[in-house]
Amino acid sequence: MLIGHQPKEFLLAVSGLTVSFDGFKAVNDLSFYVEENEIRVIIGPNGAGKTTVLDLICGKTRATSGSIQFRGQELTRLRENEIVQAGVGRKFQTPSVFEDLTVFENLEISYPRGRTVFGSLAFQRDDAVKQRVEQVAEMIFLKDRLNTYADQLSHGQKQWLEIGMLLIQDPDLLMLDEPVAGMSVSERAKTAELLNRIIKDRSVLVIEHDMKFVEDIAHKVTVLHQGQILSEGTMEHVKNDPKVIEVYLGH
Ligand SMILES: Nc1ncnc2c1ncn2[C@@H]1O[C@H](COP(=O)(O)OP(=O)(O)OP(=O)(O)O)[C@@H](O)[C@H]1O
Ligand SMILES: [Mg+2]
Repeated sequence: MLIGHQPKEFLLAVSGLTVSFDGFKAVNDLSFYVEENEIRVIIGPNGAGKTTVLDLICGKTRATSGSIQFRGQELTRLRENEIVQAGVGRKFQTPSVFEDLTVFENLEISYPRGRTVFGSLAFQRDDAVKQRVEQVAEMIFLKDRLNTYADQLSHGQKQWLEIGMLLIQDPDLLMLDEPVAGMSVSERAKTAELLNRIIKDRSVLVIEHDMKFVEDIAHKVTVLHQGQILSEGTMEHVKNDPKVIEVYLGH
């Protein structure tokens, strides 16, 4: 092999991934590769298998066969909590913030508790947590709302708070299932800005139906249909692909 022509290192390499539910292959021999600092969007009709792909990556659903390599680690062998520890954060379709806690408290309880800190060092930890909470709150446009109870937030602000609860754990891969569903136009624009900011330190894998939003954020789009890839590339490429046009508009 020529020097300088090493195979590319991907953050996430999904290959030959299959899951079958009572013989029905919801994801069927799927392969795709996500780079560092990439925003990848998965689109596709209802039932295409998009959510199932995220379920497989985060360990909620077990693969029937295939491999999910993340930073050289095989995720299909790990449990859900081990996958979180490996650096994968996942947000579900409906927001699940703690309504009776403040923004600050919601972020604080999400701060990772990996290391034990004893006695006199506890105050240093408190300080570090407070700083990190404020940093994340600023990123998710809620710095002025730290003492607001989550049930007082708009739907869009709750979605941001939940993204913040994942960001505070500093994942290398953040997976979001329809993050702008139910958001206003201005909230969507701010979410696009947020994602573009956070990929400086990580990659993002997003499922989304809103094509304007996809166009705004996607570096690359993977079109899923019946558990398989129908098309992949830039938004420009996939939206002009006759196979994609047929599935979305055709008969
Ligand atoms: N645990 C399960 N058991 C049986 N079938 C399942 C299970 N999870 C998903 N499926 C089926 O797999 C298919 C893919 O579902 P999935 O939720 O991944 O689709 P999706 O692309 O996310 O759709 P949507 O756009 O509606 O959210 C569907 O036919 C669904 O009914
Ligand atoms: Mg889904």
